[in-house]
Amino acid sequence: PFLLIPTTLLLGMLVSVVMLRSDTMRAAHAPAVRTAAAAHLTRLDTAHGAESAEAPRLRRGAVGPATAAWSQADPFAPVYVVTSRDTWQGIRGVARNAVARRDSTGMPLVISEVRADRLSEIGHYVHAKERRCGGYFAFPSRAQAEDFVGAGRSMQAMTQSLLAHYTLDNQATVERWLPQVQEQRLYDTINHLSSYRNRYYASSYGKTSAEWIRTHWQSLAAGRSDVSTELFTACSNCSTQPSVILTIQGWDLPNEVVVLGAHLDSINANTRTDPNQIAPGADDDASGIATLTETLRIALSEGWRPRRTVKFMGYAAEEVGLRGSNAIAQSFLANGVNVVGVLQADMTNYKAGAVSDMRLISDYSNADLKNFFITLFDTYLAPMGLTRSSVACGYACSDHASWTNAGYPAAMMFEAGGPNGSYPYIHTTSDTLATMGESAQNSVKFTQFALAYLAETAKTKPIKVTGGPAPMSEG
Ligand code: BES
Ligand code: ZN
Repeated sequence: PFLLIPTTLLLGMLVSVVMLRSDTMRAAHAPAVRTAAAAHLTRLDTAHGAESAEAPRLRRGAVGPATAAWSQADPFAPVYVVTSRDTWQGIRGVARNAVARRDSTGMPLVISEVRADRLSEIGHYVHAKERRCGGYFAFPSRAQAEDFVGAGRSMQAMTQSLLAHYTLDNQATVERWLPQVQEQRLYDTINHLSSYRNRYYASSYGKTSAEWIRTHWQSLAAGRSDVSTELFTACSNCSTQPSVILTIQGWDLPNEVVVLGAHLDSINANTRTDPNQIAPGADDDASGIATLTETLRIALSEGWRPRRTVKFMGYAAEEVGLRGSNAIAQSFLANGVNVVGVLQADMTNYKAGAVSDMRLISDYSNADLKNFFITLFDTYLAPMGLTRSSVACGYACSDHASWTNAGYPAAMMFEAGGPNGSYPYIHTTSDTLATMGESAQNSVKFTQFALAYLAETAKTKPIKVTGGPAPMSEG
């Protein structure tokens, strides 16, 4: 087992002191101090951290300038985070009382304590300085973090075979749906969601924007008694932000559940816990919510009935440690809900240069579902001239990891990004449609992918002819 060397802890505490001082300074001075501290951390990491050489890693651009807004509700509240050991190496300056653990796959994890107002720095350091992902699960108590790690089911989720559920026999539905995707509708949804000041989980906008999603989804289901929406609020650390769930009741396999999810919150990594922060989150992740919304519109527009139950989900509080999705996945686990597949749509609208159109996330996903994603892509999208590749995301980089940890099969398709990696404006005031060419064209492809996934996992209820004129074929 790996040991926490006292000298590195001492160095970490030293950095903490430097950074505590930066807190009390005027905002104009803070960035320079933080940069110096981060540089120090990077040096420590070069000595201790080891980067995996196997799969390509996601890269992110530099973050934008800090703003002057610093109003904080409870900046000293401790949050208990579960990170990979690699990520912990990068955040030792802000993480205290670290203990080493392993998950069921043997992955080295660390549980540590981070002040609430320093949470956004985890991503900051790890992405900007080390150029790799630094996701984490966040909990209000150490006991909850320990329980989460102790009961983790990632091994099962990644290896269990669900091939019986993943078949390709609903071409008629898919091929009818794919031409119906409208870029303008995707654009409108992204435009609406990114026009809120932010969708930060602990702000009033974070609540009203979630409620708008619920109302909008419900309007798409007008006149359907088999479709319902709810606000999921059973999340102890999601503040006032609800998750949104729309359910289409399955016709003949109602206990088998197909999930399509995206996170509805946004964050500005430079303004910490400010409820008035400017965080348009157009790509991250209004684009994912728009992808689900357009998928839903098309599926419901012609009275489609699925054989399995389908749940569309907008997750709360992803940007502060996958909180909404984790609460839902754990609640489903506790209630014995049988989820047969989870598609995660997080960032679908950015592509720059000669890169492949979609990247399958290679880690923390179910092997059969990943292979099925490849089959779906090669069957329905490749013939349109689209290309794919794959990339590792890192521990807990998005909500699919919540489902994986709960033992459910999940996978994620990720946007193309730029030639050198990912979207440069993530978590800044510049995550807007303007920086994506005022177009939602890339999300069209992801909507088509989501429609293929939906039709082939949930399947189409056969129409039974009982006399009269023959109905139109429904695949
Ligand atoms: N959309 C990102 C995840 C992402 C970003 C994946 C860039 C791949 C490339 C997500 O919203 C995010 O920011 N995740 C955090 C972790 C989260 C637990 C705070 C991250 O990756 O740092
Ligand atoms: Zn995101």
